[in-house]
Amino acid sequence: MIDDLKKHLAEVENFSTDNLDTVESFRIKYLGKKGLLNQFFAEFKNVSAEDKKEYGQTINELKDKTTKKVNDLKNQLNNKKVLNKKFQDLTRPSEPIEIGARHPISIVKNQIIDIFSRIGFNVSEGPEIEDDWHNFTALNLPEHHPARDMQDTFFIQTNPDILLRTHTSSVQVRYMENNKPPIRTISPGRVYRNEAISARSHCFFHQIEGLYIDKNVSFADLKQTLQFFTNELFGKSKIRLRPSYFPFTEPSAEVDVYWGLESETDYKMTKGTGWLEIMGCGMVDPNVLENCGIDSKIYSGFAFGMGIDRIALLLHQISDIRLLSENDIRFLEQFKSAL
Ligand code: DAH
Repeated sequence: MIDDLKKHLAEVENFSTDNLDTVESFRIKYLGKKGLLNQFFAEFKNVSAEDKKEYGQTINELKDKTTKKVNDLKNQLNNKKVLNKKFQDLTRPSEPIEIGARHPISIVKNQIIDIFSRIGFNVSEGPEIEDDWHNFTALNLPEHHPARDMQDTFFIQTNPDILLRTHTSSVQVRYMENNKPPIRTISPGRVYRNEAISARSHCFFHQIEGLYIDKNVSFADLKQTLQFFTNELFGKSKIRLRPSYFPFTEPSAEVDVYWGLESETDYKMTKGTGWLEIMGCGMVDPNVLENCGIDSKIYSGFAFGMGIDRIALLLHQISDIRLLSENDIRFLEQFKSAL
């Protein structure tokens, strides 16, 4: 009797299969209602008194080992089934991963950087919290200069020397102080002005400054560069330069692009003229060069500055500048496919 049990114990220990149905037959054979274990338990009463102890221990061992074997095999084979299913079709498209959208300001900024980097400009940045020297004085705007009023400045109350930069021209100064000509750099960044917030203007916005300093740089170089730029960004190369005034350039000009008058929006945007103002520019004033440690008798150069926000509104037909800083997901999601 006990030998019989031990034979089954060995059989259980050696049992192995990769078929779930075979595991189930094995379970029924041993653990089923009419299975071998119940039969062995029924035999217990017929076992002689001196063998009862060993018989009892062996039958319990057989029961434990069989139960464990069945559970282990079932788990193992079920896991394998799941794995096989998962990796069966390697050409199946993967789970869709949600990708974010770039902000329209970043899209346009990157486009502009890309255009200028193709003609040798690098990218430079400066701090948004600036001092008076870099934002005003070095740019030919000494204290009490009336042109300072052109830019409503946020000052730090406890220290009038510290302010939020009103334009990225401050980065020109920093760049010239720290680099020797030839210089070709563009400086994107956020600027601040104490202006009423409306659909068309905000108290913070973004600009890109351009600076080109070398020997024999002329106004013609400036015009060529701008024409290349407007053609690349807007697909329009008809521009005009209107005489203007900036303290840091002489001569200075404002740049208009001929947008055309094909649609009603063109009329609206250009106030019926077809021309759109996009930036200020000029030949860097010799005083500014000298303030930044560059010899104005040897070097000359041009600079320009434009607002990124307005260009983004234009290129993406956005009607209100405030949308750019409200972080409304319904607005931002619309740029998912753009660059
Ligand atoms: N800094 C000017 C502004 O914020 C823009 C500007 C005009 C920048 C002419 C320049 C420039 O570099 O040459 O209105």
